Amino acid sequence: MTLAPRHIRDSQTTISQLMHLADANPVGNIHGGMVMRLVDEVGGICASRHAGRPVVTVAIDSMSFHSPIFVGNLLTVKASLNYVGRTSMEVGVRVEAEDVLTGEITHTNSAYLVYVAKDENGEAAEVPPLLAETADEQRRMVEGKQRQEERVRRRRARETRGTCG
Ligand SMILES: CC(C)(COP(=O)(O)OP(=O)(O)OC[C@H]1O[C@@H](n2cnc3c(N)ncnc32)[C@H](O)[C@@H]1OP(=O)(O)O)[C@@H](O)C(=O)NCCC(=O)NCCS
Repeated sequence: MTLAPRHIRDSQTTISQLMHLADANPVGNIHGGMVMRLVDEVGGICASRHAGRPVVTVAIDSMSFHSPIFVGNLLTVKASLNYVGRTSMEVGVRVEAEDVLTGEITHTNSAYLVYVAKDENGEAAEVPPLLAETADEQRRMVEGKQRQEERVRRRRARETRGTCG
């Protein structure tokens, strides 16, 4: 069955959340794991919106934190699809922290995540093609395809060696 293509903007997802003491370590910096959870959650919503199905995370590329996030910051997590394969989808997620007293916004980290849509039997399910219209969207799609090909190549190499990780 051929699925109708969908626009990138139709699945773009943004969530803002105030950072509380419970999200922080004893010196007041927000835990990296807390940020990673939000990144995965928002990326998953974006992928589910595109697929119209539940999704699972199959890969998260390396994530580094450029600057600390503090208690009281408003964290905004934005997710947008870059590339889709047959059943997989690469989502780019950007995290920004706002000091709500000064309005200063800091880009704290970005990540690429890959999700796979699941059907009613838990099998990988086909997803709609992605419509990339602007030059930026088309560039991201080409780059996303190259990254995904590299992930698949690394996966095959791991399987050939019989190792995981
Ligand atoms: C995701 C999952 C269904 C894929 O199963 P699988 O047997 O590897 O299925 P396939 O080989 O058909 O791969 C399905 C798609 O995932 C992609 N994929 C698989 N492993 C990947 C990896 N390590 N990195 C990137 N993409 C990967 C494949 O390229 C394929 O994409 P395509 O259909 O667009 O070409 C399975 O690995 C799984 O259930 N993993 C656990 C997911 C999970 O529990 N996540 C954490 C909690 S949500």
